[in-house]
Amino acid sequence: MSLKLGVNIDHVATLRQARYAETPDAENVEPDLLAAASECERAGAHGITVHLRADRRHIQDRDVQRLRESVMTKLNLEMGNTPEILAIALQILPEDVCLVPENRREVTTEGGLDVIRNFKQLEPTIQRLQSAGVRVSMFIDPSPGQVEASKKIGADAIELHTGAFANATGKAREQELKYLAEAAVFADELQLQVNAGHGINYTNIRDILRLPHLAELNIGHSIVSRATFVGMETAVREMLAAMRDYCA
Ligand code: PXP
Repeated sequence: MSLKLGVNIDHVATLRQARYAETPDAENVEPDLLAAASECERAGAHGITVHLRADRRHIQDRDVQRLRESVMTKLNLEMGNTPEILAIALQILPEDVCLVPENRREVTTEGGLDVIRNFKQLEPTIQRLQSAGVRVSMFIDPSPGQVEASKKIGADAIELHTGAFANATGKAREQELKYLAEAAVFADELQLQVNAGHGINYTNIRDILRLPHLAELNIGHSIVSRATFVGMETAVREMLAAMRDYCA
C-alpha cells in the first residue's frame, strides 16, 4: 500500500484568524479554509486533518462542521480528551480521530500523549468514538511503553510524534530516527497502523521515509508555508512527489 498524506490545514485558519477572529462574518473573510481543503484534495492528498483546540486559536467549530460536509477524501480530527471536544467529535463523526495532549500555553502540540498515565481517562473516550464508527489513533512519542499501552487501550493506530527528530541535529537526530524506527517495528508487530507527524518538511522527509511500516503522514506547517509561494495545489503535489517512492 502506498504511503498516504493527510494535510493539516490548521495554519490556513491561523492566517484567517490573524485578521478576522473578531469579525468572522465580515465580507471577504480569507483565506477560505474549504477552498484550501479542496485544493489539497485536487492535488491528490488522501485526507484533511484539523485540530480543534480548546482555545479555538485557529480551527473553529463551524470549520469542522463545514469540512465534514465538503471533504471528499477523509477527515481526521485531532483533539484533546475533553468532554466538550468529544461531544463535537461524536456529532461530526470524522473518519479518524487522533488523540493529542493539549496544553493551552504551547505554540503547537509539544510532547506525545501519555497513554500509560492517562489510561483510565482515555479508555472510555476511545470506546465511545469507536462505537460510533470512528477510527482512533494515539499521538505518542516513540517509546515502547507508549506503543504497548496504545495497543492495550484498543487504539486502531498510533501517530509517531516526529517533533523531537525534526528539532534534533547530528547524532541526536540519528538516535531519534532509531527510536522512531524501533517504535514503528514494534507497533507493526502489535498490528497497529503506523502514522507519523509533526515537524515534517520537504527536506527531512527523506529521512522520515527511511522508517518502516508507515501508512500515513500528517503534515501541516511546511505545506502551508510552501503554499504561500507556490499555491496549495503545487505545495501538496510536491510533497506527494517526495513521498512517491516509499516502500514500507
Ligand atoms: N500530527 C499531529 C498529531 C499534530 O498535532 C500536528 C500539529 O498540529 C501535526 C501532525 C502537523 O504538524 P506540522 O504542522 O508540524 O506539520
